[in-house]
Amino acid sequence: MKYFDFDTEVDEITDASLEKAKTIILSDGLVAFPTETVYGLGANAFSDSAIKKIFEAKGRPQDNPLIVHIAEDYPIDELVEVDYDYIYKLRDAFLPGPLTMVYRSKGKVSPVATCGLGTVGIRIPRSVEARRFLKAVGVPIAAPSANISKHTSPVTAKHVYDDMKGRIPLILDGGKCDGGIESTVLDVTTETPTILRSGLVTYEMIKSVVGRCAYSENKSTDKVRAPGMKYAHYMPSCETALFKREEAAAAQKLYDEYEKSGKTPYFMCDDEMSKIIRGRVLPLGKTAKEIASNLYYRLLEGEGKADIIIAFDVSTGDGIDEGIMNRLTKACRRQV
Ligand code: TXA
Ligand code: MG
Repeated sequence: MKYFDFDTEVDEITDASLEKAKTIILSDGLVAFPTETVYGLGANAFSDSAIKKIFEAKGRPQDNPLIVHIAEDYPIDELVEVDYDYIYKLRDAFLPGPLTMVYRSKGKVSPVATCGLGTVGIRIPRSVEARRFLKAVGVPIAAPSANISKHTSPVTAKHVYDDMKGRIPLILDGGKCDGGIESTVLDVTTETPTILRSGLVTYEMIKSVVGRCAYSENKSTDKVRAPGMKYAHYMPSCETALFKREEAAAAQKLYDEYEKSGKTPYFMCDDEMSKIIRGRVLPLGKTAKEIASNLYYRLLEGEGKADIIIAFDVSTGDGIDEGIMNRLTKACRRQV
């Protein structure tokens, strides 16, 4: 297991650390870097052997393709076919930003990254730190979230370190990611753009730009189109329980039982729910944006100090609720 005995460095983003990152990437190594959504675990998207290391470091299933990240001015047309004109409208409206579009691949990106699907998800991140990193390395970067497979996605360099120490040589520290949940994954190889994974760019936002949008997610009877969606995901290591908002009394009962047996329960909830329950709280905030931004941060905080995290459905009325609930349901799959 030669990839697993690194002395993992955590460096602020400077010209010197970016130079180091470039050297590692161009010699087929892995570098974790911040984006506006979550931290990514990056490798040269043209190199089969570099990308294999991502799957190995994460323990990721081999049939789950990776997103390829490029700088704003990278010649994207060298990588993908543009099948529909609505793609240009989406680029104008949302890029750079937390929207990954799945195109037909021209075959330049490594088939190890795309799992031989013939399509490739391309993302142009907005955060200054991600842009500096992509600019510095100069090649497209294949990157999943920088967590061990199935664990909660990291939103700080410390989170990445906790999962990846010893497994990778370098983590670029850009502070906490604001977005907090991963990019929306949108299939643009079909006449109607189709959401494969929901996120901060919502169904309503896409529909308002293109005039149409479809949603293909999570229905267990559907053919799985974003292979990642079928796996258990985002799970903290402690116990979890997810309640409907109207079940506050049952949630309180569970909390009190844990407390009585000498354990440490925590609620994880938004401002409105925290007025209803009594006890320790991992606060998520008020608006959908705040809740998304805090979700993984609070789950990871909770696993360090709670025996159980007791969470509630989120329903702010914002389209982002969809992406939050998708994560929350999966994170709480390991029920009490
Ligand atoms: O915000 C994000 O998207 C973060 C940051 C690091 O950019 N990345 C991320 O990557 O969340 P990952 O690997 O954790 O999730 C990628 C998702 C998976 O559900 C995968 O199945 C889907 O995107 N995906 C990637 N390429 C695809 C393709 N060609 N066709 C269908 N789905 C694809
Ligand atoms: Mg992930």
